[in-house]
Amino acid sequence: MPPSKVSSTLHFGFGAGSRMCAGHLIATRLCYALLVRFILSFEVIASETNPPNTDYVEYNSIKTALVAIPRDFGVRLGLRDENWLEKKMKEEEPKFYS
Ligand code: HEM
Repeated sequence: MPPSKVSSTLHFGFGAGSRMCAGHLIATRLCYALLVRFILSFEVIASETNPPNTDYVEYNSIKTALVAIPRDFGVRLGLRDENWLEKKMKEEEPKFYS
């Protein structure tokens, strides 16, 4: 089999080595499904008074820090399509309660 071009996980959020999270495969898939459903359900709307700073230098609140920490900003979530979401929630419900 040719070597895979997909690299392994580039973080240690699940630990590493023999005691690493036994659920990391299912957990990454659940996070992916959650993110996709979230994006399909809601649009993220920037605050008019305090929008995110998207300047590639100025967005950082502490420039001397080891990692980038974005300045505070405001957003709200808007339902993309209430009828679609309601239909999807009804479709999924029996899977949780049966
Ligand atoms: C986003 C979700 C999750 C995160 C961030 C996470 C993270 C972690 C971390 C950091 C450890 C400790 C690893 C170490 O000691 O080096 C751990 C252990 C463990 N996790 Fe998770 N986990 C998640 C979800 C899950 C799920 C869904 C399951 C089961 C289905 C699971 C089962 C376990 C088990 C059994 C261990 C103990 C492994 C051992 O000590 O041998 N985790 N997890």
